[in-house]
Amino acid sequence: MANVKTKHLFLAASLSALMTVVACSPGGKAASSDSGATASEGAPQSVPAMAETSDELILQARDFLEPVPVSAPTIEGVTATPELVGLGQALFFDPRLSATHSISCASCHYPGLGGADNSPFSAGFHGERGGRNAPTVYNAVFNFAQFWDGRAKDLVEQAGGPLVNPVEMASPEAHVTEQILALPGYSPMFAAAFPGEVDPVTLANAQKAIAGFEATLITPNAPFDEFLRGDSGALTADQKAGLSLFMDKGCTACHSGVNLGGTMYQKFGVFSDPGPAYRPPEDKGRGGVTGNAAEDYFFKVPTLRNITETAPYFHSGSEPDLKRAVAVMAEVQLGQTLSPDEVDKITAFLGSLTGDQPQLVIPQLPVSDAKSPPPEQ
Ligand code: HEC
Ligand code: HEC
Repeated sequence: MANVKTKHLFLAASLSALMTVVACSPGGKAASSDSGATASEGAPQSVPAMAETSDELILQARDFLEPVPVSAPTIEGVTATPELVGLGQALFFDPRLSATHSISCASCHYPGLGGADNSPFSAGFHGERGGRNAPTVYNAVFNFAQFWDGRAKDLVEQAGGPLVNPVEMASPEAHVTEQILALPGYSPMFAAAFPGEVDPVTLANAQKAIAGFEATLITPNAPFDEFLRGDSGALTADQKAGLSLFMDKGCTACHSGVNLGGTMYQKFGVFSDPGPAYRPPEDKGRGGVTGNAAEDYFFKVPTLRNITETAPYFHSGSEPDLKRAVAVMAEVQLGQTLSPDEVDKITAFLGSLTGDQPQLVIPQLPVSDAKSPPPEQ
């Protein structure tokens, strides 16, 4: 029975993906690094090869899942020079872009906490309805759209949201550029990041720089990636058993590609209602963006990369326990009850998805001077 349901769901998921997915290839927004701005002398990038293997489990996994590339992918329209990435990093860490000078992107997407904040939700900042859990910015470049409800098409568009959000920043576009211009040290940084532009300090350029920086926040070389590339010994026996279950139960119908997610919207609650704690009724997800009632409670399938680092779980940030989240998923998305042993093994597998965390140095920011506006109270 379970099998039939799984197959049925797989079909439903594929159909629905066809209807709702704009660009369903993993990394649809991001070209592979081979054509990357950082590639030098036209030499092929050092992407570790997928070794030939006769390991059935590896071959099966390669049908659904891909390793994180080892170098940053490029973003359309963004020339990721070191100057641009450095500027983006400074803006990402600069609390003075908020009206109160107290909050930066890094406050909620904290390096050292998996690019998230380990809090249930951080209401208001991006204008989200009701308060949602901050998703990780790590590997976000590989998602086909940004936000739980996909309302920003890519990282460039996304970065505009918080900067001009009326709730947190009271910062209409002119105010942001004014704020940046009032920190004189930023002007040469923008000029270096956008050479040849007469008036480089713009909100649009700030967005590009932040996005270019975010594209570097990838986490390659997880044990699972080594496994996918052909190293059979990279996973423990439990993790392998968990990977088998992850595929056989049907998790990969939605959690696929580089990010084991980020390729489609799906209803949270395909087989049964997860309940108001996990799925507060007022947050309609994708349906709230499109106005199409058929998409109510559809959310972007989140990445499972580094998932052990980014509790609590779900868009509502309502589940602190990863094992419980796995059991809930099987129940409401697949109509199956997992045994405690199955939950343990799948959770062990999810632990193999933690890769090299970005090693960031907190940047030296341009200093405020006498003319810089003080924080609002
Ligand atoms: C107050 C906390 C907070 C701050 C500050 C903040 N974010 Fe977010 N971020 C969130 C929350 C919450 C979401 C999810 C909102 C939603 O889906 O509606 C989010 C979503 C995102 C996403 C989408 C990730 C995905 O997979 O969908 C990106 C990228 C992101 N933020 C980058 C940034 C950048 C860049 C800044 C600074 C310019 C920033 N954030 C500032 C809380 C914050
Ligand atoms: C029909 C599609 C679908 C299937 C099948 C599915 N998931 Fe999910 N998964 C989702 C969606 C959508 C969410 C986001 C739910 C929300 O918070 O709105 C999610 C969220 C999660 C989360 C929480 C991630 C986070 O950052 O909060 C975990 C963990 C997870 N899934 C694991 C699994 C496992 C393990 C399986 C198989 C037992 C599975 N999923 C099957 C669609 C699916």
